[in-house]
Amino acid sequence: MAETLETNPWAAQAARFEMAARALGLDEGLAKILGRPARELTVHIPVAMDDGRIEVFTGYRVQHNDARGPCKGGLRYGPDVSPDEVRALASWMTWKCAVANIPFGGAKGGIICDPHILSDGELERLTRRYTAELADFIGPERDVPAPDMNTNEQVMAWMMDTYSMHQRKTVNAVVTGKPLSLGGSAGRREATGRGLQYVCDRACARLHLDPRQTRVIVQGFGNVGSNAAALLAAAGYRVVGIDEYDGGVFHAAGLDIPALLAHRERQHTIQGFAGGEARPAGELLTAPCEILLPAATENQITSANAGALQARILCEGANGPTTVAADAILEARGIFVLPDILANTGGVTVSYFEWVQDRQGYFWTAEEVNHKLRATMEASFDAVLAYAGKHQVNNRTAAYMLAIDRVAQAVELRGIYA
Ligand SMILES: NC(=O)c1ccc[n+]([C@@H]2O[C@H](COP(=O)([O-])OP(=O)(O)OC[C@H]3O[C@@H](n4cnc5c(N)ncnc54)[C@H](O)[C@@H]3O)[C@@H](O)[C@H]2O)c1
Repeated sequence: MAETLETNPWAAQAARFEMAARALGLDEGLAKILGRPARELTVHIPVAMDDGRIEVFTGYRVQHNDARGPCKGGLRYGPDVSPDEVRALASWMTWKCAVANIPFGGAKGGIICDPHILSDGELERLTRRYTAELADFIGPERDVPAPDMNTNEQVMAWMMDTYSMHQRKTVNAVVTGKPLSLGGSAGRREATGRGLQYVCDRACARLHLDPRQTRVIVQGFGNVGSNAAALLAAAGYRVVGIDEYDGGVFHAAGLDIPALLAHRERQHTIQGFAGGEARPAGELLTAPCEILLPAATENQITSANAGALQARILCEGANGPTTVAADAILEARGIFVLPDILANTGGVTVSYFEWVQDRQGYFWTAEEVNHKLRATMEASFDAVLAYAGKHQVNNRTAAYMLAIDRVAQAVELRGIYA
């Protein structure tokens, strides 16, 4: 069981849910409802490949809970996508939307495929057929997908177009994370990274850390990690290390993040960057810093390395980067954790803003979006910290308790339809 908790995200989320539900004294019936997804759809998607063969891919969409509003959650492409991973990610979306206090429930989708070996045409046909299979399951008032690992604005544009063709009208609020010219929101691309910066600002103020003296190490230089690194560096933090799957780079005085981005753009890797020293993959996770910001994938901080972390703050950009076993070690060591369901809510918050703008047909400036995002992140941070103080629990348990409390209230108020 202990091993499953460090590898299976659904088992890990269930353990945290049960812990928080117990601390909250949640009614047993409500715990039964919230402890599992409301709906799960599996689709087998036929795709005509470029060489004339027909291939069939398996995809999922899981809607965990819609008590507070339409379901919301990303779509991920990858060879390791599994039903349990999608279930866990769907439930995290429910808790995230509740922590951020936005009127959405939680969902997630995934397709088992290796997008790096598919042509653009194959990827488009896969996306369109998956969307067509989901046509009765998604919609602006039902379930609103967004990009996640290995999906992007182009994938969202294909989804929006396919759904619109089925509806016989343009429905841009069916997905978020769209290109600006199709009803996307200013600031959406950087939103998760920007939200991470805002909660780091709040945590530093609370712990009396001066950002200019604050060393940051980021794992993962994708959408979340690269934007967080760039924005933190621009705000004066010293981003000393970036870890990627093929190795890290380190510079004690602070990396030049725009130069590293330009290098990665040219070379498709951060390796060989002249402005830093190369480090073996994974090594920087345990290097000295004030803020460690995992922004790659699940289960990176485990019982094997949590004891060796040298960070003061663990700010979770990725979903589920820390295992349950590692939680106890981090708590005993007094590391200040900004849990994923609080720290990385910037993305879904600006997705919510995008959905609002699409529905009202009136678009906001980047300044307005960022201003509203900061207010939401700060309110969420303060609510979680207040809950932690009131109930004498760590930040992660507090975030779960706050979220479960809010969703449970909505379920109770609506009652059980029979
Ligand atoms: N995109 C969003 O708005 C958003 C919002 C909230 C949470 N998240 C979560 O953040 C994480 C990253 O998402 P993303 O959208 O940036 O994905 P991405 O695919 O753009 O970037 C992921 C990066 O991590 C690197 N990586 C993968 N495995 C690694 C490993 N073992 N060690 C080091 N680096 C590794 C990849 O090479 C890539 O550069 C995921 O957990 C995702 O669910 C994303």
